[in-house]
Amino acid sequence: MNGGVRISGTVEVPGDKSISHRAVMLSAIADGESRIEGFLHAEDTLSTIGMMRALGARIVEETPTDLRVEGVGFRGLSEAADVIDAGNSGTTLRIGSGILAAQPFMTVVTGDRYLRRRPMKRIVEPLRRMGAAITGRCGDTLPPLCIRGGSLKGIRHEMPVASAQVKSAVLLAGLYADGPTTVVEPLPSRDHTERMIEAMGVNLVREGRSLTVHPVGRLLPISVIVPRDISSAAFFIVLAASVPGAELRLPGIGVNPLRTGLITVLRRMGAEIQMESMREEGGEPVADLVVYGMPLTGTEIAPEEVPSLVDEAPALCVAAALAEGRTAVRGAEELRVKESDRIGSMVTALASLGVRCGEFPDGLWIDGPAAVSPGVRCDSRGDHRIAMSLSILSAATGVPVEVTDTACIDTSFPGFRGLLNGVLGPG
Ligand code: S3P
Repeated sequence: MNGGVRISGTVEVPGDKSISHRAVMLSAIADGESRIEGFLHAEDTLSTIGMMRALGARIVEETPTDLRVEGVGFRGLSEAADVIDAGNSGTTLRIGSGILAAQPFMTVVTGDRYLRRRPMKRIVEPLRRMGAAITGRCGDTLPPLCIRGGSLKGIRHEMPVASAQVKSAVLLAGLYADGPTTVVEPLPSRDHTERMIEAMGVNLVREGRSLTVHPVGRLLPISVIVPRDISSAAFFIVLAASVPGAELRLPGIGVNPLRTGLITVLRRMGAEIQMESMREEGGEPVADLVVYGMPLTGTEIAPEEVPSLVDEAPALCVAAALAEGRTAVRGAEELRVKESDRIGSMVTALASLGVRCGEFPDGLWIDGPAAVSPGVRCDSRGDHRIAMSLSILSAATGVPVEVTDTACIDTSFPGFRGLLNGVLGPG
């Protein structure tokens, strides 16, 4: 039950985080002027702007969401005068390392206390094999990383875990190498880097799970229209889907098929989610979503589905808590090394709210529908997606939930609270 709140209206979520990072990094090393419209103006993506500016890029913020980037050219970056701070952003640090590994200078990249705990061996190992000298804390596995780039050789890299960040880092380093570089993915992950570099003139060969790039001398400038972020929309999709009678419109959402696992799973649980006016913008599929609240039933999420909903798992836990029966997620050990251990964060918070749930080493289970206890204080563990998920659970049930450290929401979704208040009406 939702305690008499009505959920309706239209929500315009901000631009896609993954695409915003890539657009800034890649246009900064293009030959000529690029334009980025609909850029996500949030802490994480501002960290990427900061990194590229520190390396000599010229990025003009014409408005907070419209950027003009005067590319310095493929070999035009220069050594930063100081340590680069990637803040909370794993994407800035990991994908950025792929570019830094090829630069003929030294860069030190660090991050906040959460990022400094996140595993970096996954990028250090292949980039070293290509010829970069990289050191870091804890046996070169944790930031800060010190990267001395230089001439690289092409490699074949079989990725042990599905990761778009690792794939992107190796492919971008491969563009600077002396021969072809191949990355083999265990499961397909988001392909925004591949789409963007192809639009910039790179010849990319896909064969099953493997991707090969050949070295280039230059990247063409681009004009990017960033779709709205499905990972931010996810909180509103879950809110509307799990409250019978709710109706929300979410226009202009990026619906890249490697990002829409949440929609597939919610539909399986009984949700009605329509994708209207399917179109392509800036090389990415986009649609207007309409979500109608329905009674939901629990489901099993298989390991193959995890990469397509990896950032949406905390929001999905909220739908699971409100659904009838058991929902289980397996093959999701990657959730333990996100901005927080998202399995531990969600199970701890939900259990304290009275939800029956538990952990697997590689996932979790939740039995619904839950009667959420009021007046409980839950720890976001400084993780934006945990903080937003718990806020959605509170909104969906009408039960006040106190969430610690909601400032972290600004890493990906400034304005979240205002948009949430805007769709909650009196019953
Ligand atoms: C991202 C890839 C994913 C995702 C992260 C953004 C990207 O991480 O969780 O929020 O932009 O490439 P992994 O590459 O670690 O799976």
